[in-house]
Amino acid sequence: MASERRLYALKAFDDTKAGVKGLVDAGVTAVPTIFHHPPESLDDAPTHPHGHQFSIPVIDLAGLVTPSGRASVVGAVKAAAETVGFFQVVNHGVPEAAMSGMLAALRSFNEEPAEAKRPYYSRDPGRRAKYESNFDLFQSRAASWRDTLFMEMAPEPPPPEEIPPACRRVAPEYVGLVQRLGRTLFELLSEGMGLRRGYLEEEQECLDGLSFAGHYYPACPEPHLTLGAARHSDPSFLTVLLQDAVGGLQVLVDDDKNQPAWVDVPTAAGALVVNIGDYLQLMSNDRFKSVEHRVVAKSVGPRVSVACFFRADASTRVLEPIVTDAGGARYRSTTVAELVRHYRAKGLDGVPNGPGCFSVFSAASAPSGSPPT
Ligand code: OGA
Ligand code: NI
Repeated sequence: MASERRLYALKAFDDTKAGVKGLVDAGVTAVPTIFHHPPESLDDAPTHPHGHQFSIPVIDLAGLVTPSGRASVVGAVKAAAETVGFFQVVNHGVPEAAMSGMLAALRSFNEEPAEAKRPYYSRDPGRRAKYESNFDLFQSRAASWRDTLFMEMAPEPPPPEEIPPACRRVAPEYVGLVQRLGRTLFELLSEGMGLRRGYLEEEQECLDGLSFAGHYYPACPEPHLTLGAARHSDPSFLTVLLQDAVGGLQVLVDDDKNQPAWVDVPTAAGALVVNIGDYLQLMSNDRFKSVEHRVVAKSVGPRVSVACFFRADASTRVLEPIVTDAGGARYRSTTVAELVRHYRAKGLDGVPNGPGCFSVFSAASAPSGSPPT
């Protein structure tokens, strides 16, 4: 629970509608207290330099043109999905120009004068396009050093006039390309689960919803006190992340002694980062892993990234495990609406349930009281 003083400081920051970028523009040389993360969440595991022992695989989709190449790509995707939950793809069909254009547009929106961005700043859950700093500002224990342009792009994109002009043409174009890649990825994952190629798209409608989160992480004067994004797993089937060359994304993997360790996701020109989200872990009955990750704050910046979350968001959509082994369902069936309420209520790194949905929605725990709306 936020103390009254903290709540006052959060409100004052939010009321500027200028985000972390506004603080940096005003010349702050110290990170304000609302952004201080507790030491235990800053040093909750050792950080390993990127090394081949823990590396995030890079999968070349050029292999898909031949049947034998396809089989080895399916094997690589399956292996990554079952272990680190993260991989990068190259030759993925999204042109370099579309990627650099997207990052440049997002950067220029964030670097417009505060007055230009202010009309888009909102916490209204009904707004399909909005700019805000920390969607969980009032829920999380500590704010993070980032601002976000958030847009629900599918099933219906926002009306064009609700999208900031800098991104109005570029974002829908970029999202269309990511959806095409998404189709390929869901085919590969379906095959990796031993199901027919169209299963996740056609039966499970994994391509039907897409949320866009364009993040802007300003250079931070005291990066050791805060984070760019707190530790979390993603509320999605699958996430496709575009990042620039600054870096800072880390994944929590078990090291050779089975101890969790933070591993850097290297930046690779032209590559896209793909990770399994909570909905797919639940639906695959734990075969595929939705792995926790975070973004460290850096003294260099800004860093710009775009996360596209594939998520069904129809309130009637039910998620249930596909059971392919003798062990039975590990999760009860739940609605996407119920999952979304859970994420909103707890914030990114929220207590008491910790990151992700797995303890709450496990088959062993009772359904929560509130009926789906
Ligand atoms: C996210 C996320 C990482 C990044 O948006 O869920 O993990 O590098 N983003 O911005
Ligand atoms: Ni994430």
